[in-house]
Amino acid sequence: MAANFNNSAWFYDQLARLVYGRALVNAQVYLIQQITENSKVLIVGGGTGWILEQISMIHPEGLDMVYVEISANMMALSQKRNIGGNKVVFVNDAIENADLLPCFDFVFTPFLLDNFTEENLGILFNSIDKLLKKDGTWLSASFQLTGKWWQWVLLKTMFVFFRLICNVEASKLPDIGRRFADNEYTLVKQKGFFGNFMASRVYKKSI
Ligand SMILES: C[S@@+](CC[C@H](N)C(=O)[O-])C[C@H]1O[C@@H](n2cnc3c(N)ncnc32)[C@H](O)[C@@H]1O
Repeated sequence: MAANFNNSAWFYDQLARLVYGRALVNAQVYLIQQITENSKVLIVGGGTGWILEQISMIHPEGLDMVYVEISANMMALSQKRNIGGNKVVFVNDAIENADLLPCFDFVFTPFLLDNFTEENLGILFNSIDKLLKKDGTWLSASFQLTGKWWQWVLLKTMFVFFRLICNVEASKLPDIGRRFADNEYTLVKQKGFFGNFMASRVYKKSI
């Protein structure tokens, strides 16, 4: 069952800021700074779309973006965002179903990959991977456990909460790093946020 954040769209950002302060924003702003001018960017699971405004502050024009979001409510909020002179095509569907050309220089998955079971992550990963050009860059932000007890408590709480409200299927974190390694991606840059509970990683595709 797909993780659809429809029911949480109206409070998602407020709750995230309450729990994590600016960390969720900072983890993503770190990644979008990698985007180069006039590039083609695929954003998957952007939520309410605030990231579009952050991207447009860095690149007021010239980007060619596709924004894929499964939740209709999240999508409605995203479409109201100020995108400056950039181009955005909005696709309200699961990325697995989106019919897109493999033309992207960057793909951005902000706190998306950690919502899936190992098996479904494989399907999701492949459907995004095939859209990224050779030598393209995958910007991935996700939660991780680095051995601190409070991370585990927060993670369990999130999984239970979002399972009830949004059908999130994962009950433990899938091995995201292994997917990138198995698919010949090279980790070029990374940074931890919120006591390393959040990891922002920049991967280069080599095949
Ligand atoms: C945990 S939320 C993160 C939202 C946003 N990136 C943020 O950090 O504020 C994950 C988002 O991915 C969307 N999503 C989940 N599965 C998806 C899929 N298969 N294709 C596209 N979007 C998906 C959900 O609807 C939700 O908005």
